[in-house]
Amino acid sequence: MKKIIVTGSCGFVGFNLINNIDKNTEVIGLDSLNDAYDSRFKELRLKYLEKKPNFKFHQIDLANMDTLNKNSHIFENCEAVVHLGARAGVRQSFDDPEKYLMDNTLGTTNLSLKVKEYDVPQILIASTSSIYGDTGKQLAVENKDELFNPPSVYASTKSFGETLAKNILDDTSTVIKISRFFTVYGPFGRPDMSILRFIHWIASGQDVIIYGDGNQRRSFTYISDIVDGIQKLLKYKKEGTFNFGSNQTWSLNEVIELIEKHIEKKGKIINKERAYKDVDVVLPSLELSKKILNWQPTTNIEDGIKKTVEWYKEYESSIEKLNFKYEYE
Ligand SMILES: NC(=O)c1ccc[n+]([C@@H]2O[C@H](COP(=O)([O-])OP(=O)(O)OC[C@H]3O[C@@H](n4cnc5c(N)ncnc54)[C@H](O)[C@@H]3O)[C@@H](O)[C@H]2O)c1
Repeated sequence: MKKIIVTGSCGFVGFNLINNIDKNTEVIGLDSLNDAYDSRFKELRLKYLEKKPNFKFHQIDLANMDTLNKNSHIFENCEAVVHLGARAGVRQSFDDPEKYLMDNTLGTTNLSLKVKEYDVPQILIASTSSIYGDTGKQLAVENKDELFNPPSVYASTKSFGETLAKNILDDTSTVIKISRFFTVYGPFGRPDMSILRFIHWIASGQDVIIYGDGNQRRSFTYISDIVDGIQKLLKYKKEGTFNFGSNQTWSLNEVIELIEKHIEKKGKIINKERAYKDVDVVLPSLELSKKILNWQPTTNIEDGIKKTVEWYKEYESSIEKLNFKYEYE
């Protein structure tokens, strides 16, 4: 049986990835279950994951090398590490830079050292469109690394994490793959991200708060396309950095209209002051992902929002009392 480690296993992407991994692969999930957002969302996801016979969970903080050392055995005969564990979110990163540095930079460093010690054949590191900043009319192109000037603490720690992993694993046989995701949404999503908050606020009749005029545009990407991208990247034999996003952008206002249509209810919109360092538009180049991995997004936003609303309605009773606090991505 193949064995892989997924960090951030109880997060949004980790949960959806593990749910799609076949029964013949042993999956070791690592997560600190931190409080970056209501950790009951993570417990809810863990509850479902623990029903899978091929899944084992370890509550581990990657920033703590002692704990990682005590659990070293999990790296034995591991074929791949999928590193999704991170503290995400642009705005909050300015309030608490130290936590971002610990989770995203030290966490990635410690994990890379373990990967090196156990000669793990490959590590896939999740990174973010946030490191490109505002792309304006240009496309975010993966290999223009020299142009990077990460515009937030979050983006800096993620970008530094990419570099540190490459430094630590340089001259080893481990193949490093970087996947940069663009604003992901879908079932079991993060309650601090815009789409799930908007759905919750509209469905529950609460004010829908938009920071700014709602014309800022994102390359919203449905979770199953992200999972497909990770799986294709795991099969790819070489190193590389790839964008996984949509080839189109939508404004927050357009997204709200779609949500209103599927919930069949109008939201009470309240516009507030634009968030610090919020960018206008982020659009990826998908050339490399298409050409090399044969990957492209297949879920259009209409279907993606419809499925997310359907999921919300099904799970409403489990999530209605949980916190949907503000974050911006
Ligand atoms: N969701 C998006 O739109 C998006 C966009 C770009 C990049 N990403 C990246 O994708 C990855 C997954 O994001 P997500 O949306 O699932 O976020 P998430 O917050 O839902 O999941 C991340 C998980 O990592 C865990 N974690 C954080 N620090 C840890 C540590 N030190 N040790 C162990 N576990 C730790 C958290 O408890 C959480 O469960 C992250 O690396 C994020 O930076 C996400």
